[in-house]
Parts: sequence; C-alpha cells; structure tokens
Amino acid sequence: MKYNNILFEAKNNIAYIQINRPKQLNALNTNTILELSKVVSFSILDQEIKCIIITGTGEKAFIAGADIKEFAKYSKEEGKRLSNEGHEKLFNLLDTCGKPIIAAINGFALGGGLELAMACHIRIASSNAKMGLPEVSLGLIPGYGGTQRLANLVGKGRALEMITTASMITAVEAKEWGLINHICTSQELIKVAEGLADKIIKNSPSAISRAIKSINSGYIDGVDGYKVEQNEFGDCFDTDEFKEGVSAFLEKRKANF
Ligand code: CAA
Repeated sequence: MKYNNILFEAKNNIAYIQINRPKQLNALNTNTILELSKVVSFSILDQEIKCIIITGTGEKAFIAGADIKEFAKYSKEEGKRLSNEGHEKLFNLLDTCGKPIIAAINGFALGGGLELAMACHIRIASSNAKMGLPEVSLGLIPGYGGTQRLANLVGKGRALEMITTASMITAVEAKEWGLINHICTSQELIKVAEGLADKIIKNSPSAISRAIKSINSGYIDGVDGYKVEQNEFGDCFDTDEFKEGVSAFLEKRKANF
C-alpha cells in the first residue's frame, strides 16, 4: 500500500509506523489520520505482526498536534465531526487493538499528538521530548480523548493542571507522573522500543489480546472489569496457545506461539 504521510515497514513480527510530515512537525491532518487508521487495521489483520511501534520522523517532533491550519476555519459541526471521526477511525482503534502498541515519543507530543501516544498501550520517550495538551491556548479543549485518558494516566489533579495551564512537561516529569514508562536518549529510542516489543512477542498473542481487553474494560462505564477478566481467563483454556504454553513449561522448553 502507498502512503503519503506515513512510512511503514514490518519485520521480525514488529510493525514500524512513522508519521512523516516533519516540515509540519508531523501534525495530524485528516489524511494522516486515515492512513494511520488503514495501516493499523492492516497490522491487526496480518498474523505475522505481533506488536506495533509508532514514532515520528525527525528529532524535533513525535506529533505537534492536530493540524491547526486544516481546522482553522471549521464550524461547530465540522469540529464535532473532526473529533467523532478521529475517535472512531483511529484513537479507539489504537486503544482497543489486541496487539500491543508502543508510542516511541521522539520530541514534541502536543495536543492530538499526546492524545495519540496516550491511546497507545505503552509510552517511551527520548530525553528531549516535551508533552502537553495546549488546546485551551487555542480556544479549544482536547478532542481526541485527552480529557479522559490523561486523567486516567496521571490522575484528575495533574490532568486539570496540565490542561488548564496549557503547559508542557519534560520527559523526566512525565515519567514521574506515570505518563510514560521509560526515558532514553534519542539514539536509543527505537532500540528500547524494540527491546520491549521483543519481550512481548515471545508471549501468547491471544492471551495478550485478552489481557488488553480485560484491562481496558475496567475503564468503561458500566462494565465490570473483574467479570470480563473471569470470562477471558476461562476462554484462554480453550486455546491452542494455552496448551502450548503449559506443555512447554512442563517439558522445560520455550513455548512456540
Ligand atoms: N498544526 C499545523 N502546523 C503545525 C503544528 C500544528 N499542530 N505544529 C507545528 N506546525 C507547523 C508550523 O506552523 C510551522 O510550519 P510553517 O513553517 O509552514 O509555518 C512548522 O510546523 C514548524 O513549527 P514552528 O515554526 O512553530 O516551530 P517552533 O520550533 O517554533 O515551535 C512548537 C514548535 C512549540 C511545537 C509549535 O510549533 C507549536 O506550538 N505547535 C502547535 C502545538 C499545538 O497547539 N498543538 C495542539 C493542536 S490542537 C489539537 O491537537 C486539537 C485536538 O486535540 C484534536
């Protein structure tokens, strides 16, 4: 498939997706969102792919937000559509993807860029990264899930501070706050992401997908996460991967999923 705004490569069971609009600091316009949606959907279907790494081109920005130039003249209806379609086509797709997605944050992750990183399952950042939800400085609020996911990750008090002050935090602060899992140098970023991906892909893909579903269910209103866990746990016993995992343990060998 040919993409205009992203680069894509799959090797050794890992999909590498790179937002590639460096002159616009990888800002997310509608086409980029559609291309990301397509490539993630493709990666979900491809049995060879077991983990996804998303990063941005260049050392300056992961993603500097939704494309301000594109929505500058939008009406209320267009604004609502932008947010709805973003949620439906991309951000929910990332969040609920059964294959772990690692955001490798290589610079500014602002607005929709931080929202995209927060919709991924694991976040690592280079030490030069800066993160923030500056939408109120534009007369907007975060529209791609930021008001919900930031509060889930760092707590309501810190989310309120970050969003109302529109200020950026450093990678060190983001790690202290639990917004990212690891910090490293720019040069090491993809290696560190690959290290995590390599650990993930040794494990049962079906169990991983059920674990993601169970964890996510605890954050859905009206859904009993414990009940979902019990069902998913039970269903694991019906899978070939469970048989292989347990046989490998008993036979003192590595499982082959
Ligand atoms: N949208 C469109 N273009 C953007 C952009 C964005 N979010 N962020 C940067 N750019 C463009 C700039 O317009 C500039 O392009 P031109 O050369 O054509 O003018 C180019 O990228 C380089 O940017 P700067 O010259 O501004 O670079 P800088 O080093 O001086 O500043 C920055 C870097 C602090 C990240 C600054 O670019 C900035 O503040 N960007 C906007 C951040 C922002 O407000 N993001 C939130 C967007 S709204 C949103 O995301 C809504 C939502 O939740 C759905």
